[in-house]
Order: sequence, then structure tokens, then C-alpha cells
Amino acid sequence: MFRRQILKSIGVAGLALATGISAASAQEVVKVGLILPMTGPSASTGRQIEAGARLWMAQNGTIVAGKKIELIIKDDTGAADQSKRLATELVVNDKVAFLAGFGLTPLALAVGPVASQAKVPAVIMAAGTSTIVASSPYFVRTSFTLPQNTAPMAQWSAANNIKTVVTLVSDYGPGLDSEKAFKAEFEAKGGKVLDTLRAPLMNPEFAAFLQKAKDLKPDALFLFVPSGQGASLMKQVGERELAKAGIKIIGTGDVTDDDQLNGMGDALIGMITSHNYSAAHDSPENKAYVAAFLKANNNMRPNFMSVGGFDGMAAIYKALEKTKGDTDGTKLVEAMKGLAWVSPRGPMSIDATTRDITQNVYVREVKKVDGQLYNVEFATIANVKGSN
Ligand code: DHB
Repeated sequence: MFRRQILKSIGVAGLALATGISAASAQEVVKVGLILPMTGPSASTGRQIEAGARLWMAQNGTIVAGKKIELIIKDDTGAADQSKRLATELVVNDKVAFLAGFGLTPLALAVGPVASQAKVPAVIMAAGTSTIVASSPYFVRTSFTLPQNTAPMAQWSAANNIKTVVTLVSDYGPGLDSEKAFKAEFEAKGGKVLDTLRAPLMNPEFAAFLQKAKDLKPDALFLFVPSGQGASLMKQVGERELAKAGIKIIGTGDVTDDDQLNGMGDALIGMITSHNYSAAHDSPENKAYVAAFLKANNNMRPNFMSVGGFDGMAAIYKALEKTKGDTDGTKLVEAMKGLAWVSPRGPMSIDATTRDITQNVYVREVKKVDGQLYNVEFATIANVKGSN
């Protein structure tokens, strides 16, 4: 009542001036609902993405096109029914202008129908199955896809005297995408995939699969597991002594994840992977990113999930700038189409037709640099599309 009287007597602008804040900052809040696995087996994904998103905001401020950006973080614990429930609550109760995050493919897929119905943009910061973005016209991706990240590994293998490969992947969307992309690309270049093994996503026990792979005596074993599982997989690879049996271990960079790599041990030195991000990426943007990230996060090393969060916030800011603060969901998705900028990972863009990410993919080798293990990039495949 009191507030209403004041507003009536002096007007909103007058109140703002009287309280010492500018008229522009007395404005609307634009809410971003970040749905992440903050607990459970994918908690490292949530932790990395939150840190990336917060770093973007710390470096770029919280006012965009005259509006105040507010981040709301919700923990879906890695359960798809929770992701969907939280997305619905964020849209209905909190009236978010953006949904974002989603730590695994099934979690992203569960949010798609909510985004479509509410006409709210949903920025995929982690999930990598190629078909997700096409499942809702409100999806935009700033992470990566497995076909995008895998094909360069198959090309490198075929060009480096590897004739036979066994693949071992997690048995769900991104693993199957990775297996398919590897086989197609490697066999097109004259190689032979001897077997395609699939381990369960939850509580995986790799020993039996690794023994099977060893018995097949391929030149190389290609691996994909999601972020958070690389250390346990590589420990079991070491125990089976595949390297001693002359089998080269290769994979996507999800396996040699920067979040865990340094603890995996020197047995990994020399391992070749392909991926969209390395903390060792040699650019001024990445050097500044890694230094700021380490400082803000008690020396936690940023991984590929963190840049998905950082660049996801970049896409959100850039879209709002383009719409001049208009939060109409359809206009925001339109504004994100075709955005291009230089990320800590290198140049990236949002494809104007597919809304998927186009980015460089790098072939890397695990090396010890200043006493720590890193994925050191040695070849670049430029501007690889996320999906068609
Ligand atoms: C997905 C999750 C990951 O942690 C990863 O490294 C790759 C893909 C996914 O579920 O899409």
C-alpha cells in the first residue's frame, strides 16, 4: 500500500532516481532455469556447467539489454522424470525465459516437449546425441555431438596404420552415435571394426567387455563413456593389460576428461583421442578462461562440460542483445540461429538451419606438461557440423 502510494506520487522513474538506482536497473528480471545433475553419478557434469555459467556472468555482468539476468539452478539428480518436472515448474511458476543445462541425453529429451509446448528456448549444454536438437524447435546446442567428435578419431586411426578396431561404448544415445560414426568413417577408409561392444550406462562393469576385446586382438580399442566414467574405465583397461597385448587404446575426449585426467596416472601418456575441448587448447581466450576458472573454483580444472555452460550463457546473452531484451521465446531462438563467436574451445557457431553447434574438433595426445597430464592438441579439423 505504502509502496503503491509512493509510486503514484513520484512515478517509477522518480522512485528509481530517489533511491539512487538508474531507471534501467529498476526493470524486469530475465530468469534462466538451469537444470543439472548436481548429485548422483553425473554430479561432476553439473558442477562443471554451473561453474562455467557463473564464470560467464562474473565476466560479463548480469545486465543484458537493460534486463537483469537471474540464474535458477535445479538439481534433477540425473533422473529424466525430475528434469521434466523441474522444467515444467520453472516455466509455470518461475516464468523462466530460458531453460538450459541437461546433463545426459535422456534428460535433455525429457525437457524437449516442455520447451515446445511453452515456446521457451532450451539450451543444451552437455548432451551429445545427434538427434536431440531436431526433437524440439526450441532446442539450441552449445555442447557437441558424438558423430562430430568421433569421426576425426576414425580418420586418424585409418591414416596411422590401424587396420582393425573393436569399439566399446556406453549403451545409450551418444554411445550408439559414436559407435556408428566410428565404424562408418573407419570402414569407409578401408579399416575393419571386428566387434561393437556396449556396456550399460548405469553402474558399468567393464571387465568382461575388455577381456572380450583383448581376445579379439584388434590393432586398437576405441572407447566412449560419458563424463565421470573415464577414470574407472581406464583403471580397468590398465588392469587387463591391453597395452601389453599390443592393443592401442583410443577414444573420444570424454574418456580422458580434464575433470579426472590428472588423477588417471602416467599409464595414459600417449593415448590419442579426438574432442571439441581441451584445457590445454593453445589460444589467448582459453588461457584466460582456464586461469579465471581455476581461480574461481578452488583450482578445479575446467573440462568440456564447463565450456558448454560458459558458451550456453554466451548464446543466451547474445540472443537477448539481438532481441533488445524481448523475451518472446520464438524470437530468442531465431536470434540464436547463426550466432558465431570465439569460445575458449576455438571458433564456434550455431547452425542457422539445425540450431546445432558447428565447431573445430581436435586430435590430441595425453602428455605430461609441468608435472600434470593434459590432452595436447596436434591436429585440427575445422568447422565440423554437429548434425545435418
Ligand atoms: C553425454 C553425456 C556425457 O557426459 C558425455 O561426455 C557425452 C554425452 C550424453 O548423455 O549425451
